[in-house]
Amino acid sequence: MKGWMGKFKALFIFGLIALFLTGCGEPNLSALQPKGEGAETLYDLMMLSIYVMVGVFLVVMTIYTFVLIRYRQKKGQEDFIPEQKEGNHLLEIVWTVIPILLLLVLAVPTVITTFELADAEPPADQAEDAIVIQVTGKQFWWHFNYENEEIQTSQDMYIPTDTRVYLKLRSDDVIHSFWLPSIAGKMDANPGGNENKMTLLAYEEGVYEGKCTEFCGDSHSLMDFKVIAVSPEEYEDWVSGMKAESADEKPETTTALEGQQLFQEKSCIGCHAVDAGSQVQTGPNLTNFGNRSKVAGFTDNTKENVVEWLSDPQDVKPGNKMPNVGLTKEEASKIADYLQQLKIDDKNE
Ligand code: CUA
Repeated sequence: MKGWMGKFKALFIFGLIALFLTGCGEPNLSALQPKGEGAETLYDLMMLSIYVMVGVFLVVMTIYTFVLIRYRQKKGQEDFIPEQKEGNHLLEIVWTVIPILLLLVLAVPTVITTFELADAEPPADQAEDAIVIQVTGKQFWWHFNYENEEIQTSQDMYIPTDTRVYLKLRSDDVIHSFWLPSIAGKMDANPGGNENKMTLLAYEEGVYEGKCTEFCGDSHSLMDFKVIAVSPEEYEDWVSGMKAESADEKPETTTALEGQQLFQEKSCIGCHAVDAGSQVQTGPNLTNFGNRSKVAGFTDNTKENVVEWLSDPQDVKPGNKMPNVGLTKEEASKIADYLQQLKIDDKNE
């Protein structure tokens, strides 16, 4: 009796934990709510294998339950030994052929899909108009270089909806992995010139969360990025907005103006470009820093958090390459003012 209770207790606790963990999924960070082409393809494959598994489970459990009840030892027959059979050709053929068929049902679509997803080059006649983005993983942030538009940005990738976008993934240091579950899926970003390719096609506008999913150092778990899908018109506006930004533009407020001077004096500008045409990518490109919802990829873009980040980058995101340049609180505050006004204006506002 006690043993039974113990088992149920374990099952109950396990069930509670499972129920609790189902709350962990964030909107737009789930392969189970596909909002793009690749994610939908993968979701269909997952559902196919789940249907097959459930079918197998039900058949096996039905036979198991039937045999358990039908052939159990009955009262008064303790010494009864049923007729002994050895081998049954028909049965053996059936339980060999069925799994082979099931494996084919799983394997054929999986192999076809794998090859389809690997075909990630723009068609030759569209090569110059296609949106091709070089994605570079770095400890611990992401850089995006739009080849045909000649603009660079970091952390937030803008794409138009209903348009196929072609990614070329690589890394500048260790292996990272670009994971965008609700739009596409996952692809490694490797160092050493080995370029991986994948495509993105978002069905609806939205902000889609992405993560690095290859352990790459101290702040691996903080190496987040966003893909922001907007309408094709808004995307064009974004591209021209990015191109129009210049490093020489003067901020409107005095503190931001002083921040701009400090940004140059303290050599921040040596690693961080503030115009989208710059090739500098030692640190994230900050051209549209004020439009980003996050600082360092993961904390809210509030002035307080920017100041904290500038004052002690290693404390916020251990192991990253940003040095502590010894800013006073006042200096950090001015630079934060400068950074937060670096914005691409939304024409609709
Ligand atoms: Cu980059 Cu983990």
